[in-house]
Amino acid sequence: MINIDSKTRIVGLFGYPLGHTYSPIMQNAAFSNRGINNVYLPIEVKPDSFGTVIKAVSSMNFGGFNITIPYKVEIMKYLDKIDETAKRIGAVNTVVIKDGRLEGYNTDGIGFLKSFQEAAEATIEEKKVFVLGSGGASRAICMTLALNKAKKLYICNRTFEKALALVEDINKFMPESSTAIPMEYDDMKKAVEHADVFINTTSVGMFPEIDEIPIDSSLLKKELIVYDVVYNPRKTKLILEAEKLGCKTISGLGMLVYQGAEAFELWTGKNAPTELMYSIVSEALGEK
Ligand code: ATR
Repeated sequence: MINIDSKTRIVGLFGYPLGHTYSPIMQNAAFSNRGINNVYLPIEVKPDSFGTVIKAVSSMNFGGFNITIPYKVEIMKYLDKIDETAKRIGAVNTVVIKDGRLEGYNTDGIGFLKSFQEAAEATIEEKKVFVLGSGGASRAICMTLALNKAKKLYICNRTFEKALALVEDINKFMPESSTAIPMEYDDMKKAVEHADVFINTTSVGMFPEIDEIPIDSSLLKKELIVYDVVYNPRKTKLILEAEKLGCKTISGLGMLVYQGAEAFELWTGKNAPTELMYSIVSEALGEK
């Protein structure tokens, strides 16, 4: 139970429109568990007021905030400082307010990395990775793969031009003798055959379209580690098909929890109760 008083710091989630979000239950449980007098609120901000709102937050009792669609890029021009990784990703999802100054971070990449390492019991280094999708989540994941020395990165997107643009940015950060390669949808087969890890960053398979799968399942093989950023349902059709083949599979729930845990640590300076955060979201998703 949160006791709200005049010392309570507000932490917000700014976006428009705000769809369903698990961040409030996850962060409020974490604040309460660690005895921190913060409250996390979803705050829908209309596009024509975004600048006005952001300029006002440091004058109020805000400790920081998360940023979601469509403001992850726009927020950058209002910040006093931007962390190097967030700059490289080109988007900010977490802002810390320190002495009235706004500092921007991107916790999606580290959220991906920690969830991958924990579930796969492996690192990214030297892995050949196939990434489907070239949107915001893909950008954070691909940059993390590059900075963590993936050996090869195939980037495939329905809109090929977006894959090309992402590859160009990512190749500036791939380790020496490694490359990111753009793939056409129709050429997926060749690349997946050579990959160690397959990552779906698109929304294909997300509730309520749970019978959809982003890749022809006959292209999967048991040696692949299959990671799906979609966490609702927890087991997407992609994950279920991969499980049938005996693949190691990872759901996007871990990324959701770890990106939130990282934000929690930036705001509070304390360790996040990740197990609690995980079980709160699992429960809300209708399972335990
Ligand atoms: P996010 O921030 O979740 O990554 P996004 O930036 O809107 O969201 O990106 C969505 C990604 O999913 C894009 O790569 C998109 O492909 P396009 O660039 O061609 O739009 C991909 N995507 C969404 N729906 C898709 C579908 N039905 N089939 C294939 N790709 C899809």
